[in-house]
Amino acid sequence: MPKKTNWGILATGKIAHTFAKAVNSVPDAKLYACASRNAQKAEEFGSLYGVEKSYGSYEELAADPNVDIVYVASPMSCHYENVKLCFKHNKNVLCEKSITLNSAQLEELISIAREKQLFFMEAMWMKCLPAFLKAKEWVSDGKIGEIKAIRADFSNPVEFDPNDRLFRPELGGGALLDLGVYPISFVTAFLGFEPEKMISSANIGGLGVDMDEAVIMKYKNAYASLVSGFDIENENRAVIVGTEGRIAFDPWFFCTDTVRLYDKSGRFKEESVTPHLCNGYEYEVTEAQKCIAEGRKESVLNPISDTAGVMKLMDRLRKDWNFHYPEENAII
Ligand SMILES: NC(=O)c1ccc[n+]([C@@H]2O[C@H](COP(=O)([O-])OP(=O)(O)OC[C@H]3O[C@@H](n4cnc5c(N)ncnc54)[C@H](OP(=O)(O)O)[C@@H]3O)[C@@H](O)[C@H]2O)c1
Repeated sequence: MPKKTNWGILATGKIAHTFAKAVNSVPDAKLYACASRNAQKAEEFGSLYGVEKSYGSYEELAADPNVDIVYVASPMSCHYENVKLCFKHNKNVLCEKSITLNSAQLEELISIAREKQLFFMEAMWMKCLPAFLKAKEWVSDGKIGEIKAIRADFSNPVEFDPNDRLFRPELGGGALLDLGVYPISFVTAFLGFEPEKMISSANIGGLGVDMDEAVIMKYKNAYASLVSGFDIENENRAVIVGTEGRIAFDPWFFCTDTVRLYDKSGRFKEESVTPHLCNGYEYEVTEAQKCIAEGRKESVLNPISDTAGVMKLMDRLRKDWNFHYPEENAII
């Protein structure tokens, strides 16, 4: 029997629980270890998911020779240091979105990963999901002709809480890195990373982070429009409009199992429904494991160069808003 991939989870917050369930649902994955800054918290997390090793520090997890890949689930501002720690111990990494605060941090991590020949991927699970892959297939098969417009919105109203990472600049809070990263990853997957022009506006609030934003991206032959925010109720749909038809994602577009194809008169043509096997995160688990088994250092479905392209656009947007994080001395 082939050896299972031993996963280690670094940080035991909200998303780590969801991810642990996904790992436990994948047949050739083993949730081997977890780590928290607090040993008791790690043990409690570990006992919920049948984890073999629970560590009271991230360093112990990174140093465990039996861990094949670490899933980094800390707040955004910690990713850079946490991923570096894993790389120091020669660990492959799947890191939560947004992968870093800015391109400078990401470029440094990418060069370490390349130098040490380690697998490095952002946990942009949308790009591993069957609905997203079906839309990619329809587009490359020419089913909607040339793309002319994309709309993708992701808002998630949250009550202001000064303790929540979302509102705290020192934890990498803000709607762009938390929510906007999905619509931008979506648009760039279809139209690329070089819009001719970007027009945007953001409201700064909370404890000094972007609470919401609207972005228009102009490409040579297409437009994209995106809205994200912690203070907006939205349908969270995505639609790709082409010269011959359109593709519509159900809400919430980045995690839906359903996508539909229409002709240019708006008549329904086809739908693809692939219910998640667990909670949807299992597809990125499988993708990371498959790449590692094949000796790849980058994901096929979500290459790190795509992540870097998205990060550059997010840097550009924040620069336009004159918004930077405390550890960024000047506007990036
Ligand atoms: N893919 C998705 O669908 C999805 C959904 C939600 C969030 N995320 C991403 O996942 C990451 C974590 O989000 P989350 O919602 O799980 O956050 P969270 O509930 O606040 O948990 C973050 C965890 O990070 C650890 N941590 C390390 N340093 C910390 C610090 N200085 N302050 C606070 N916590 C610290 C803590 O774990 P220990 O106490 O165990 O050390 C904490 O429980 C973010 O990058 C976020 O964007 C992804």
